[in-house]
Order: sequence, then structure tokens, then C-alpha cells
Amino acid sequence: MKGILLAAGAGSRLGPLTATTSKHLLPVYDQPLVHYPLSVLMLAGIRDILLIGVPDQLPRFRALLGDGSRLGLRMAYAEQDEPRGIAEALVIGADFAGSEPVCLVLGDNLFHGPDLEAVLRREATRVDGCVLFGHRVPDPERFGVAVLDAHGALLDIREKPSVPPGDIAVTGLYMYSPEAVEYAGELSPSARGELEITDLNRRFVAEGRARLAGLGEDAVWLDAGTPDSLLDAGLFARTLREREGVRIGSPEDIARRLGYIGSGPARSTAGGLR
Ligand code: DAU
Repeated sequence: MKGILLAAGAGSRLGPLTATTSKHLLPVYDQPLVHYPLSVLMLAGIRDILLIGVPDQLPRFRALLGDGSRLGLRMAYAEQDEPRGIAEALVIGADFAGSEPVCLVLGDNLFHGPDLEAVLRREATRVDGCVLFGHRVPDPERFGVAVLDAHGALLDIREKPSVPPGDIAVTGLYMYSPEAVEYAGELSPSARGELEITDLNRRFVAEGRARLAGLGEDAVWLDAGTPDSLLDAGLFARTLREREGVRIGSPEDIARRLGYIGSGPARSTAGGLR
């Protein structure tokens, strides 16, 4: 499975912080934001990763992550010059993905949980269509929301509904079979001119090939797209560090633990997104 990390977008809700830098390079406690979704791809066992950014920020991402060898990864880079939608990541990444399954993660999403790594590795081996990751939230109207039947099977997804059909949000982490690239290329832009990820996912739902997985017990999911959520994410990372000695969002720690790089002592002790 290959990984695509989407870190373009205007970051307009974070202005003026994003006037001179990408939102994905802003600090979340002791790591740049982009390190957190990168860590998630690594926990899923993915080592070939395409980072998509806006053209003027790509040199900064390259300066941060290089060719990936420092972390035992193979990093590639591509441009999205305008925010034409999350699903465009699969169109941009078509050649990179080739005929392999793909895991797409949004550059402003943070995940943490004791079972997360096991869940990701298990799901990565059984993608037929798409696997979406749901999480219960208090404010579902801000997200894609799952419509489930009485047995928890996925019937539909509604994007930012004013009257949410439930409280399970579809998080910014998606695993796809290879044909998703072709399906993304067949999408029509929405009213706001974007290739919507929810439209792509609904195609798999209509085919009966979309599964909604959980993130495991005690999982935490945050997105850091606003000043408040960016601050909350940083405080969450600090609390974990101080109270539990867990450092989240460190690709270096994960690379060391997974044996990708030298065997120096790991700097954290517990499970989850390290
Ligand atoms: O965070 C999960 C949610 O992400 C899902 O529940 C929704 O179904 C999904 O549509 C998306 O909603 P958002 O409103 O949060 O998406 P946003 O436009 O804020 O973009 C999320 C990230 O993707 C952000 O880091 C910027 C990046 N992005 C977005 C677009 C539209 C791009 O890099 N390029 C784009 O064209």
C-alpha cells in the first residue's frame, strides 16, 4: 500500500498564521503539524509516501523530510496549485499509486489511540473498495457524517449536513483499492468547484464496497484547521507527553521503533501514535 499525504489547501481559517507558511508546518507542541498524519501512515506500515503541497511551500516540505531516507521512507512530492478538492489528491497521485492500494490522509488530522497501529495494519490488508474510519463527535455538522443501518453497516455519507443523521464523523483517513484513482478522475466538481472525497466514497457505498472501521478503544481524533483546534491539538500532545510520557507525532521515534533507522533508545514508552 502506498500513502498520499494531502497538505495543500489555503489554510484560510488560520490567517494570519498562514500568510507566510503552510498550515501543515505550524507547530503542534513539539512537532510540525504534518508530522502527525505522516506518523499515521508509518503506523499503517506504509513507506512509500507522496506529499502534495502548494507549489511555493514544497521546498519547505522537502527541507523537512527530504527523500525520506533519514526516516527509512521513500518520500515523493507533487503540487496542487489550487484547492480543487481532497479527491484530486488521487488524480495527482495516479502515477505514483500505479496499481497499488492507497491510503490517503489529510495533512491537518491527528490520530492517537492504544489500538491504532493494530487497527491500521489489519485494515490495510483487507481493503476491497474503500475503508473509512469513523469517530463519534459532538459536532457532526462540521464533517462528513455516516448514515448507518441498525447493524452499523454504512448506508450513505452526508457532507456537512445541517441536520446530521448521526454523530459518527468520517475522519480524514481513507484506504482505497487501486480503482479509486480512476473513479476520482471521473468525478464532477461540486457546487463549490471541488472534487469531493465524499462523492468518491459514496460511489463505493453504492457499489456495496465501502466499510466503516473504528479507530479502536480510547482513540482520539482531532483536526487542526482552526486556531482553537490547533491549540487544543498542541495541548493534547503536551498532556500526553507530561502525564503519560508518550510522544505522539514523531516520525523519528516510529522509524526507530519499527527498525527503519538506527537502534538508539526510543524516547517514548506506551503504545499508539508515537
Ligand atoms: O477532517 C475530516 C473532514 O475532512 C471530513 O469529515 C470531510 O468529509 C472532508 O470533506 C474534509 O472536510 P474539511 O472541511 O475538514 O476539509 P478541508 O477543506 O478543511 O481540508 C482538509 C485538509 O485537506 C486540509 O489540511 C487542507 C487539505 N486540502 C483540502 C482541499 C479541499 C488540500 O490540500 N487540498 C484541497 O483541495
